[in-house]
Amino acid sequence: MRLKLAVIPGDGIGPEIVREARKVLDKVAGIYGHETEAVEVLMGGASIDAYGEPLTEESLEIIRKQDAILMGSVGGNPATSPWYKLPPEKRPEAALLRLRKEMGLFANLRPAYLYKELKGACPLRDEIIGDGFDMMIMRELTGGLYFGARKTEEVDGLLTAVDTLTYNENEIRRIARRGFDIAGKRRKKVTSVDKANVLDSSRLWRKIVEEVARDYPDISYEHMLVDNCAMQLVKDPRQFDVILTENMFGDILSDEASMVTGSIGMLSSASLNDTKFGLYEPSGGSAPDIAGQDLANPLATILSGAMLLRYSFDLDKEADAIESAVQQVLAEGYRTGDIMSEGCTRVGTKEMGSLVAERIS
Ligand code: IPM
Ligand code: MG
Repeated sequence: MRLKLAVIPGDGIGPEIVREARKVLDKVAGIYGHETEAVEVLMGGASIDAYGEPLTEESLEIIRKQDAILMGSVGGNPATSPWYKLPPEKRPEAALLRLRKEMGLFANLRPAYLYKELKGACPLRDEIIGDGFDMMIMRELTGGLYFGARKTEEVDGLLTAVDTLTYNENEIRRIARRGFDIAGKRRKKVTSVDKANVLDSSRLWRKIVEEVARDYPDISYEHMLVDNCAMQLVKDPRQFDVILTENMFGDILSDEASMVTGSIGMLSSASLNDTKFGLYEPSGGSAPDIAGQDLANPLATILSGAMLLRYSFDLDKEADAIESAVQQVLAEGYRTGDIMSEGCTRVGTKEMGSLVAERIS
């Protein structure tokens, strides 16, 4: 199969982690007889430096012609980077939001899985961890507060800012269906997270989720308020299978879930639309403080490559091969700094990538 990829290294640690993911993808392609055809596209700060804007029309045109995007991360340190002197719509993150919207990537899948080898990196007590946990955060990605009208103006002499949280029933229905579909392939449980005790958008969310649930009689579901969910994630993370939630809640809860697994450096993600097209990126940020030092953990990006094969190309065997190679490297005791524990062997970004690539079979 021919894999036409847009590769967006981005900023900070982006280029180095993407390089390792490509190393692994190329190895898989070679072994399983596929051909990768990758075009590199600048986005975020890298694009601002080159073209004065975070995502050009030309770049978008190129991206539209590919089957999937492999991305590192965009953004810099807001306190020191000149990119943050620009108006908000010209900053690195604006490019990512635009790309999500332009490509209709409404379904964001963020698996949070505790590798038994990484129990030592998990901040929770042993009796809470038990035999580990495995959840999938399904975050709505193109609606809500991120895309509602916003403005800052003076009202009665006071500076006043407004952000709007809007969802229509179709936007809720399509993400809910994805959530239930995915739960059907897992442990068949959906926890729909909202703030229905306060927000109208959440009350609509609940109503539509209930309607959708009727079409999935074999899947159990429950509603949970977002503040309670934040608490339950550290109190008893094993109770969760699929967490289905809106954009902003999903942003926050997925970072929390990732820390519970030990490191955000392990968390992959897929952002999907109605077709097979997807954007695959690690859940973590660009970590400018450690960029270019061979310190970053490339495993989340490598695992995002596995998701890319699975969701955009239906190459399950190949995706499994990557996931088991990662597992093997961890079982052999290799660790980057963020997941290091006593008795393990500390390696850099490049070596970690090579170790995984060597174990692909
Ligand atoms: C994420 C990030 C983005 C988001 C930022 C960079 C705009 O935090 O993908 O979770 O909030 O969606
Ligand atoms: Mg986030």
